[in-house]
Amino acid sequence: MSKIKCIGILTSGGDAPGMNAAIRAVTRAAIANGFAVKGIYRGYEGLIHNEIKEFTTESVSGIICLGGTILKTARSKDFMTEEGRKRAYENMVAAGIDALVVIGGNGSLTGARLFASEYDVPCIGLPGTIDNDLNGTDLTIGYDTSLNTIMECVDKIRDTAYSHERIFFVEVMGRDAGFLAQNSAIAAGAEAAIIPEEQTKVDQLAQFIGRGIRKSKSSSIVIVSESPKCGAMHYAERVRKEYPEYDVRVSILGHLQRGGRPSAGDRILASRLGVGAVNALLDGQRNVMVGLKNDEVVYVPFSNAVKSDKPLKKELIDALKVLSQ
Ligand code: F6P
Repeated sequence: MSKIKCIGILTSGGDAPGMNAAIRAVTRAAIANGFAVKGIYRGYEGLIHNEIKEFTTESVSGIICLGGTILKTARSKDFMTEEGRKRAYENMVAAGIDALVVIGGNGSLTGARLFASEYDVPCIGLPGTIDNDLNGTDLTIGYDTSLNTIMECVDKIRDTAYSHERIFFVEVMGRDAGFLAQNSAIAAGAEAAIIPEEQTKVDQLAQFIGRGIRKSKSSSIVIVSESPKCGAMHYAERVRKEYPEYDVRVSILGHLQRGGRPSAGDRILASRLGVGAVNALLDGQRNVMVGLKNDEVVYVPFSNAVKSDKPLKKELIDALKVLSQ
């Protein structure tokens, strides 16, 4: 491998608050270490269509506090094809980019892993997703802000749920992982969380009703992880049929969970991991995701990071049950 002179940065997949802080950190750490930096717009699409710009320290001024991503993002279908990746590689070489930093979630890092297996390009991943579903890191960039956003929404929903003595099913994002649902339920003092990790083990609705929801409270909030078949609407319908004595409403929070100014936690995480990405390249590492484990920056091989089986602690499930009585 020849010496790295220029690092390309892209954001890919669903945007997450704190991505800008990560772009800033990678850019500034890279320049401080003598690398040139190029920003690649619209994720892998921008590599394929040559949307690449030289970045300076000033390019990332004033962005640490902004949600979204100044580089824009996309879910590239073309990058899933060999032809697309070939064009991406050719454009990268033509732009003088020797190494890539990819900020994104599971799909984006899977793309980086594939690209790195086909071409001799050092790729470093940063976990940028509100879902917190990447293995080998305690936290992903965007998760904390999203949790806070959900908590604030649920605080508001509780006012109306209480006044009307209703059960509210509040649907949150997370794709196949229940981290957002479980932890926002704890943070907002919800009565239950319905999460994919428990779906095949128990009937979570029956379990919640079985705990006697009217014992001490006249209203309830149940946070439900999104799911094509078993989302909040599904559970509200079930209650209407199986427990018609309850007045039920649904609130699907949607993409507002991805927006807004990043929390201090996300800004610090993104800054540390961004510096870690440049250190990884200086150390000659490649094809790893930079994560945080027990407050230490760690390097996780892509193959482990994207496994899709990050465990959700049973202790969190037990805590919510005890606290929601
Ligand atoms: O991966 C982040 C995420 O927000 C998931 O929680 C959600 O399922 C998905 O992206 C939504 O994607 P889109 O913005 O394409 O609708």
